[in-house]
Amino acid sequence: MEKEVVLSGIRPTGYLHLGNYFGAMQNYVKMQNDYNCYFFVANWHSLTTHPDTSEMRHHVYRVLAENIACGLDYNKVTLYVQSEIPEIAELYYILNTLAYKGELEKTTTFKDKVRTQPDNVNAGLLTYPVLQAADILIHRAVKVPVGKDQEQNLEMARNFASRFNHRYQEVLPLPYAFNYNQELIKIQGLDGLGKMSKSENQLSTIFLQDDPETIYKKIMKAKTDQGPATPQEPMPPYIENIFLLLKLMSSTDTYQFFIDKYNASSTGNCLIRYGDLKKQLAEDMIKFLTPIRQKTNELLNNETLMKNIIKEGTYKARESSSKTLDIVKKAMQMWY
Ligand code: TRP
Repeated sequence: MEKEVVLSGIRPTGYLHLGNYFGAMQNYVKMQNDYNCYFFVANWHSLTTHPDTSEMRHHVYRVLAENIACGLDYNKVTLYVQSEIPEIAELYYILNTLAYKGELEKTTTFKDKVRTQPDNVNAGLLTYPVLQAADILIHRAVKVPVGKDQEQNLEMARNFASRFNHRYQEVLPLPYAFNYNQELIKIQGLDGLGKMSKSENQLSTIFLQDDPETIYKKIMKAKTDQGPATPQEPMPPYIENIFLLLKLMSSTDTYQFFIDKYNASSTGNCLIRYGDLKKQLAEDMIKFLTPIRQKTNELLNNETLMKNIIKEGTYKARESSSKTLDIVKKAMQMWY
């Protein structure tokens, strides 16, 4: 039986962090054996918000290297750069004729951008969901591992695909959001003020490339408090987040040790020492991230290898893309 097609895109707009790792990359790595996977760097998409391309090259290489360093095997999956695949732009044009201005203007991400970058409301922003649909449909992917914030874009991709199917011929399968282990792990920033982010609150975000000293400093500064007032007290979100990180980074015994201390603590009898917990967490996190950082740097220092990886990914992605375009054009009788 042919494996189902899984696809996801990553915008190259900053360094990857622990939130990306546990929310996305770890999932990709698990999927690579069971599905026919396509993962790509969405650099056309980032032009809509980051028109300055002087940093883009560096970010594209870094995103690729970091994904490989985290365990993505470029021989198993198709790993590529969006702007190397002209077939996506061709499908994008066709889909544009099936997308209505009204529905594009109504999408939340577009409305957000109109508010946050009023001086650059470019047509690329408006048609962002159409390009995303082209990304997905070009490989006839059915499973798209993305977070909740992408649900609307996926719904639009399904709408464009079914309009195509009705107007021309039933050739495009409908894509759905997909997560391997159902529950997505969401990591909050260390200041307790929101998600870890590529561009905001840098000090409360742990990047995959942070060196041991930086990791240590950031963890030691993470928000904690006086400790629980009563035994078994429910955790405030920022403490829960630290325990989540401990669970992900440290041994079961270590995790249990601190959980037990927490649950037995109360005012006047504080057994949980957040300082000790953080030291342990920092140490284990450094152990976890050091090989990833080293592997990333090794890859980035080997330009020949990186170029070959991209070349191979381009080849595989274009092969699959041109197959779909043939099917699409035949369905439209645009075959001369
Ligand atoms: N819009 C996605 C994001 O901001 C990135 C993306 C572009 C994408 N094309 C895609 C994700 C196709 C999944 C499938 O994260």
